[in-house]
Amino acid sequence: MILLDIRNLTLEIESNGVLVKALDKVSLSICEKEIRALVGESGSGKSLIVLAISGALPPQWIITADRLTWRGQNLLKMNTSERQKIMRRDIAVIFQDPKAALDPSVKLGEQFRESIPDELINVRWWWQRRSEKNQIALAQLTRVGIKDVKKCLNSYVHELPDDVCQKFMIAMALVSQPTLLIADDPTRGMETSTKRQILSLCKSLNHNSDLSILFVSHDLLAISSIAHSITVLYSGQTVEDGPLESVRRKPFHPYSKALMDSAPSFRPELHPKSPLTALKGTIPTLQHLPIGCRLGPRCPRAQKACVNTPVPRTIHKRQYRCHFPLHIEAEENTVDNNEGENL
Ligand SMILES: Nc1ncnc2c1ncn2[C@@H]1O[C@H](COP(=O)(O)OP(=O)(O)O)[C@@H](O)[C@H]1O
Ligand code: SF4
Ligand SMILES: [Mg+2]
Repeated sequence: MILLDIRNLTLEIESNGVLVKALDKVSLSICEKEIRALVGESGSGKSLIVLAISGALPPQWIITADRLTWRGQNLLKMNTSERQKIMRRDIAVIFQDPKAALDPSVKLGEQFRESIPDELINVRWWWQRRSEKNQIALAQLTRVGIKDVKKCLNSYVHELPDDVCQKFMIAMALVSQPTLLIADDPTRGMETSTKRQILSLCKSLNHNSDLSILFVSHDLLAISSIAHSITVLYSGQTVEDGPLESVRRKPFHPYSKALMDSAPSFRPELHPKSPLTALKGTIPTLQHLPIGCRLGPRCPRAQKACVNTPVPRTIHKRQYRCHFPLHIEAEENTVDNNEGENL
């Protein structure tokens, strides 16, 4: 069953006095028990998608979508309190920098107790409530693999290492027993061993508790070990979408291929210290978006036709947006089917 369904989400924001499409017809969906990777270079719009799902965009920004639904309910038509209820109960979000997201002046135990919704507490008196909340905190922190739980609860955020803080954020996010966890680049800047711990925690939460996860990352290699499906974003547009293994083996879009080629483990033939291949140039700024395909100026396969914006196409349960895809015969690519609108 589809939990979150986004179709043709467009977000116009004001940048240097002009309205620009920071997200342009972005589509993705997440099913029950699915881990979906959302990948793309820095500045491609990943965090804007997270904000759009959370309903946390500045009011002056213009958001439109053919569909933005949670279990079939239209998120864009809900009032603030209905939306907040879903964000409190069903969807939890964690951000890349746990230390910035936590209050430096309050011990973590207090912050955890405050995050526990009252409906989870069944006792009457305040001292009983405090004790029950402590029990919940101990159980949740143990569940995410924090070893010295009591020390963690008695510490301030600056007294603990990054991995413990990120696990603490995950535990706090899970306390309301959400169905979907959105993790916005939670491993950015972390050491490899810390990264691995967070990834394996996500994998086990998905496996043991059926938690669906939207794992947002610029680091394809990090999420390849846990994700079932992938959405590739470039400059505010979804360029490819499909099962991770199939996209990994045969990327259709030149940008997906460049991402795969940049991830060392995806190229087993490479010597460990070989220089990584990447696309020339950088992602365009919102004020200087190219006409037609936004990858055009950087794309090794670009041709005249690419000044026309490519429409989304669907083939073998995969979607892509490119006039000259890889691994697809020309005749297959000319079949413009309606399913393509899914991307
Ligand atoms: N508050 C903002 N005001 C203006 N532009 C913004 C704002 N937040 C993000 N952007 C722009 O939107 C684009 C996408 O940003 P972001 O979603 O943070 O990318 P990512 O998370 O993929 O690194 C970038 O060009 C960024 O500069
Ligand atoms: S449409 Fe053209 S420029 Fe865009 S990715 Fe495909 S080949 Fe490259
Ligand atoms: Mg971001």
